[in-house]
Amino acid sequence: MDFEGIDILSGKQFSRENLDQVLGVAADMDERLREDRSLDLLDGYVMGALFFEPSTRTRLSFETAMHRLGGGVVGFAQAGTSSVAKGESLNDTIRTVNQYVDVIVMRHPEIGSAKQAADVSTVPVLNGGDGAGQHPTQALLDLYTIHVERGGVDGNTIALCGDLKNGRTVHAGVELYKHYACPLIFVAPEPLKMPAEITERLRAEGVDVEETADLESALAKADVLYMTRIQKERFEDPAEYERLKGSYVLTREMVERVNPDVTIMHPLPRVNEITTDVDELPGAAYFREARNGVPVRMALLAMVLGETN
Ligand code: CP
Repeated sequence: MDFEGIDILSGKQFSRENLDQVLGVAADMDERLREDRSLDLLDGYVMGALFFEPSTRTRLSFETAMHRLGGGVVGFAQAGTSSVAKGESLNDTIRTVNQYVDVIVMRHPEIGSAKQAADVSTVPVLNGGDGAGQHPTQALLDLYTIHVERGGVDGNTIALCGDLKNGRTVHAGVELYKHYACPLIFVAPEPLKMPAEITERLRAEGVDVEETADLESALAKADVLYMTRIQKERFEDPAEYERLKGSYVLTREMVERVNPDVTIMHPLPRVNEITTDVDELPGAAYFREARNGVPVRMALLAMVLGETN
């Protein structure tokens, strides 16, 4: 598929062929990045980074990716510094930013906001997270991380643990893993289970999905353990957050006892769901995962702008 001009809004939009294309271009960017500090593929292009919600990794890795490609960046890191604070609508903001930039990366608290932006935008929109909806560029860098860490994605058993109800990274990720025949284990307390619509659809599509609340039994079977944060900002009832926030804590003792060969991932930020003594284990991949955001986002920017060579 030719990626030039497309929006990246959801994990659902990709075929296996598309995903292998992204992995290939990301690997090429990674190799070039290790040889050269910067490339000039996007010299003269400008990216608009519109972040209506807090971010460290998504915003900074997209900005780094654009700089490493020789392009420029404009934008804002909180809605309060844009004219949204004066009552400007999302549509008008996008139409205005279209006058300045060649591509937009947007994070916004509302599900569907990236699609809304893409519908009015004249330049490609890359969804950097829309509420509890989707986070497709994170899912793509997660896929790339599994590819690098495990020597391929096909057939790996992936356990996803934590807030699967609100987790946009896992909502996007499962739509990619299904193309690689990865058995999936969903580990969550009852109130934070993966939405039934997603679980049932995956099963109907032939994906092997197990659901459990028991982290240790899932860890024992997993090639990849993908931990996620219980997301305080998604809870309407603070007492419910307090009750659930410590549901899962992965410790070094647990990994060494149950499955020392597992690859441990996390989109970050973490709060307390992985103790810091796990960080030095060889399978603790989450900071390497954060680094992979740069080559993967370089690939996506170059692909949607039609400038990969
Ligand atoms: N993984 C991720 O989306 O992190 P940020 O919220 O820091 O961007």
